Amino acid sequence: MRAPWIFYYCFALFLILNYSTTTAQPPFDYPTAKLSTTWTTTGSSLESFNFIDGSRIRAILLRGSFGPTFACGFYCNGTCISYLFSVFIVQTNSVNGIVRQAIGFPQVVWSANRDLPVSDDAILNLTSTGDLVLQDADGSTVWTTNTTGKSVAGLNLTEDGNLVLFDVNRSVVWQSFDHPTDCLVLGQRLFVGQQLIPSVSSTNWTAQKGLFSLQVTDNGLFAYVGSNPAQTYYPSYSIYDNSAYTGTRYVRFLNGSLSLFSVSYDTSYAYTVFNIPQASSAQYIKFMPDGHLKVFEWNIRWFVVADLFNDYASFGECDYPLACGRIGICSGNQQCTCPAPRSPSIDYFRAVNDRQPNLGCSEVTPLTCNATQYHTFFTLENIRYFNIIADMEKVDIDTCKQACVNNCSCKAAIFDNNRGDCFLPFELFTMINVDPNERNNSVSAFIKIQNVRSPPSSPLGVILTSTIGSVLFLLAVTGFIIYIIRKRRRATQTQTVEESIREMLCGRKNFDQSQPEESWHLLGVLQKCWEQGILLDMVDKYSEDMQAHSSEVVEMMKVASWCLQYDYTKRPSMSIVVKVLEGVMKVESSLDYNFTDPRQQNIIVEHEKDMTPLLASVLSGPR
Ligand SMILES: *[C@@H]1O[C@H](CO)[C@@H](O)[C@H](O)[C@H]1NC(C)=O
Ligand SMILES: *[C@@H]1O[C@H](CO)[C@@H](O)[C@H](O)[C@H]1NC(C)=O
Ligand SMILES: *[C@@H]1O[C@H](CO)[C@@H](O)[C@H](O)[C@H]1NC(C)=O
Ligand SMILES: *[C@@H]1O[C@H](CO)[C@@H](O)[C@H](O)[C@H]1NC(C)=O
Ligand SMILES: *[C@@H]1O[C@H](CO)[C@@H](O)[C@H](O)[C@H]1NC(C)=O
Ligand SMILES: *[C@@H]1O[C@H](CO)[C@@H](O)[C@H](O)[C@H]1NC(C)=O
Ligand SMILES: *[C@@H]1O[C@H](CO)[C@@H](O)[C@H](O)[C@H]1NC(C)=O
Ligand SMILES: *[C@@H]1O[C@H](CO)[C@@H](O)[C@H](O)[C@H]1NC(C)=O
Ligand SMILES: *[C@@H]1O[C@H](CO)[C@@H](O)[C@H](O)[C@H]1NC(C)=O
Ligand SMILES: *[C@@H]1O[C@H](CO)[C@@H](O)[C@H](O)[C@H]1NC(C)=O
Repeated sequence: MRAPWIFYYCFALFLILNYSTTTAQPPFDYPTAKLSTTWTTTGSSLESFNFIDGSRIRAILLRGSFGPTFACGFYCNGTCISYLFSVFIVQTNSVNGIVRQAIGFPQVVWSANRDLPVSDDAILNLTSTGDLVLQDADGSTVWTTNTTGKSVAGLNLTEDGNLVLFDVNRSVVWQSFDHPTDCLVLGQRLFVGQQLIPSVSSTNWTAQKGLFSLQVTDNGLFAYVGSNPAQTYYPSYSIYDNSAYTGTRYVRFLNGSLSLFSVSYDTSYAYTVFNIPQASSAQYIKFMPDGHLKVFEWNIRWFVVADLFNDYASFGECDYPLACGRIGICSGNQQCTCPAPRSPSIDYFRAVNDRQPNLGCSEVTPLTCNATQYHTFFTLENIRYFNIIADMEKVDIDTCKQACVNNCSCKAAIFDNNRGDCFLPFELFTMINVDPNERNNSVSAFIKIQNVRSPPSSPLGVILTSTIGSVLFLLAVTGFIIYIIRKRRRATQTQTVEESIREMLCGRKNFDQSQPEESWHLLGVLQKCWEQGILLDMVDKYSEDMQAHSSEVVEMMKVASWCLQYDYTKRPSMSIVVKVLEGVMKVESSLDYNFTDPRQQNIIVEHEKDMTPLLASVLSGPR
């Protein structure tokens, strides 16, 4: 009798197993919810899963039952004192539900409350009126879909990872895809007017307000940094003629690409912004806290399969606007420095944190708009700046600088000598150091600084510290000498020549009235120094920087004197000046140091109204 009993038992078991495997539509997923349901962050109604990266989830909805699938629920990490209501990708199998807690860490792709995490005992309420509300433990409403009275019938987590409130007709009333955070999942669209904003850091998930954003406009896809106004660091212009290609634009993350579309055209008009490796499994795009745009893929664990700006736009680390923080200079593969004169005693910028140079630099004396008369420029040559949109085109360097002087919000004048492009940022991010051999694509940055010591300050010492021997330096010296002459002519008796010289050479006004009052003309001093062979004595003894480059300074003064020769036939041509600066030629030795010739001053008076054309005409007078 025993054998038949066992037989029947086994047969019954066979039937049960067979029945359950053939009829099991994914038994472990729970992708929808009805109205009048609540869930709490700590209650026992939700199963909690702990992962070895420190994160913990409580899944409210789960869609799918094999491999990487979407779930939504509460997410926390580390101490788990605060929670996000999120959509994340988890690993599942059809027997145990969510699995692989050692490697299948939840990947958060959307979050309702990343700026306002909730605490223990917070409640998510899908109300009877069709609103989805997140309330913190104290009862305050942290987030809501505002869908009361819109005939909501239920909540659905779709296979794409879209969290949807649907109505009685099964049409979408509200969806998480309309409120993107920092990620796009396969199939998701990003429309004009929407944006991805990265979180503050990998541990602080708050949205980085006013820093990076990724947006679609009528012209293409753009990555921006800063605000008021934002600066473009990655542009992808669509190839279409805007007048013909109308309708709302969007990019869509497809299997194999991120492509630009217009709602009024069919998909054959797609413009591929990026090619993306084909998805062998779950993928998502994430806009990272440092401005990278990365593609993640599950392949036994989570990998970065593409770094889109690097891979498809040839970005190096230095091309990211915050590679070296604000006002930092980026060289090589992200070596960061602050703009620095060679002498540490006259630093205008310092690292925000000496141990972490990539955090950027700050002005030693902050700029203030109520003391614009003390603004001056710090010059940097041979740099590149990421922004490619000029504020002014085909202008000269002085127009560019003057425009920055005129607007207190302007932090720097960035000037492209080759093209005459002028960019006037209100926030100055990382500048890229350019090898002098590649000067063709380099620009100059004139960074506005606040000079507290005394007005007006001289840009001389500052300019000296950048590329000695640049033509700009020569122009500045020459300009300054002319400026001093003019000033002298108007000067009161109490202003000594020494003051003027100091003003010119060390950026400092000497108010010491006890100085011997010698009524030399400034250029008379130059003349006298020249005669006595002590040109260097004019160089301020207290300026280490000047001292360190005394021979260059003297050489520059000679060049300047040469360019100021009253007899313009004696003045050098620009090509000769360049040769002198390169050390190939020497300064003409038989110079006339009598600059006080009244005829010379007449020339200057004629042009007194505008110093810029003055420089040009004096230098390039008829030969
Ligand atoms: C969770 O927190 C731990 C420790 O703070 C951190 O190492 C880990 O990267 C975090 N995980 C995520 C996904 O942020
Ligand atoms: C959910 O919301 C409804 C309507 O606002 C309210 O009556 C109900 O008490 C809420 N449930 C919980 C658990 O707070
Ligand atoms: C709901 O409405 C409030 C107030 O109008 C708004 O601040 C909030 O962003 C809305 N929530 C969503 C998810 O749109
Ligand atoms: C929920 O989403 C799935 C697609 O992922 C869809 O097939 C289903 O019809 C949706 N349910 C409702 C009620 O909208
Ligand atoms: C659902 O569809 C019916 C028929 O098209 C329509 O009359 C009704 O207004 C719709 N309901 C909602 C909430 O849109
Ligand atoms: C996260 O960053 C925000 C914005 O910078 C800051 O206000 C908040 O205190 C940070 N939160 C934590 C936990 O550090
Ligand atoms: C993406 O396309 C490739 C090639 O057509 C295919 O093998 C793969 O399954 C697709 N991936 C997804 C997630 O659809
Ligand atoms: C400029 O204004 C700020 C704040 O109003 C004040 O603290 C500062 O002393 C002013 N600076 C000058 C140079 O007047
Ligand atoms: C500075 O420039 C901005 C943008 O061009 C302009 O909106 C602002 O009014 C200007 N400010 C001044 C003081 O000119
Ligand atoms: C710089 O530009 C000039 C003329 O435009 C060209 O002849 C030269 O090859 C360029 N040099 C480099 C390093 O690109």
